[in-house]
Amino acid sequence: MIEIKAVTQRFNGARGPVDAVRNVSLSIRKGEIFGIIGRSGAGKSTLVRCLNLLNRPTSGNIIVDGKDLTALDAEQLRGARREIGMIFQHFNLLSSRTVYDNIALPLELAGLSKSEIAKKVTPLLELVGLTALKDSYPAQISGGQKQRVGIARALANEPKVLLSDEATSALDPETTRSILELLRKINRELGLTIVLITHQMEVIKMICDRMAVMESGEVIEHGEVLELFRSPKHEVTRALIGDVIAQELPQGVLQRLRARLAQSDAGSGTDHLFRFAFTGSGVDQPLLSEAVRKFDLDFNILHGQIDEIQGQAFGSLAILANGTSENIAAAMAYLTAQGVTVEELNHVI
Ligand SMILES: Nc1ncnc2c1ncn2[C@@H]1O[C@H](COP(=O)(O)OP(=O)(O)O)[C@@H](O)[C@H]1O
Ligand SMILES: [Mg+2]
Repeated sequence: MIEIKAVTQRFNGARGPVDAVRNVSLSIRKGEIFGIIGRSGAGKSTLVRCLNLLNRPTSGNIIVDGKDLTALDAEQLRGARREIGMIFQHFNLLSSRTVYDNIALPLELAGLSKSEIAKKVTPLLELVGLTALKDSYPAQISGGQKQRVGIARALANEPKVLLSDEATSALDPETTRSILELLRKINRELGLTIVLITHQMEVIKMICDRMAVMESGEVIEHGEVLELFRSPKHEVTRALIGDVIAQELPQGVLQRLRARLAQSDAGSGTDHLFRFAFTGSGVDQPLLSEAVRKFDLDFNILHGQIDEIQGQAFGSLAILANGTSENIAAAMAYLTAQGVTVEELNHVI
């Protein structure tokens, strides 16, 4: 659906040229929700703005639904852009217009009549759950409701692709969840391809099918979300996944843990913090108690969760293991052989 081919975006910064996006190639499939994650400044927004040519890439090609956007003239580009909706972190609504009129705006710009506009806006209000608020102004509604207006407006021209740049970053966790559920519903019901930019792994985990990780303008890793969670290859990906665990551990536990690991690093102990990830049948097997018995270890479970990612059970445990270094190494080799992904987390906490 979207082919990103060797795209580079160079800016002339104060200290000389900066490649905000460097030689990125990705292929996004029709109907999927594709997540792009990375830290602040990684180049995510620049890349997503290349997808509708809000930024014209310095080199490379963007092919959407078979059309090379970089080769179109201004008129053709306007047409192609109608097939690509976009939503933003700060919603970008017009404060002087009602909910209804904000959603109607792209249709007015496309020259539709009042009755044609009503035929499109009414079901969109229904879809995003804002029918009762259609005459309210942006100042009178919540952040989550504003983003629903943004989504409805982005869908007004019936696009094939929706770009979302940190659309939930200004929202609380519960509202984030409801907006992500709405995006998933739209993805399924309308068959819309969604490219979702975020710095939060939670967001990726909740709705994405595949994902790419960006750092310093480059895509450093990409693939199925489940696969990357199970065996992240790049340090940045591991840190982003580790962040999920760190965020979920209560502060008190984290502090005690840091103190204990610092002591252990100083050579006075043998505490190791691990993250175990396992899928499917691994979730039911008594592998951990076997490893504890076989290798004479103590396992202290700090955090655990079973999620569903792409319809598969995915378990993740943070464990503090205590024992001799040889036994810990042997236990981790044993668990790895049983299909558990084992990762030492001392450096993350
Ligand atoms: N218009 C611009 N001019 C110069 N530098 C820019 C411009 N836009 C972005 N950058 C730089 O490109 C890098 C990537 O920025 P951005 O794409 O916004 O990252 P992200 O969205 O991942 O936080 C940053 O170093 C940023 O300062
Ligand atoms: Mg950004």
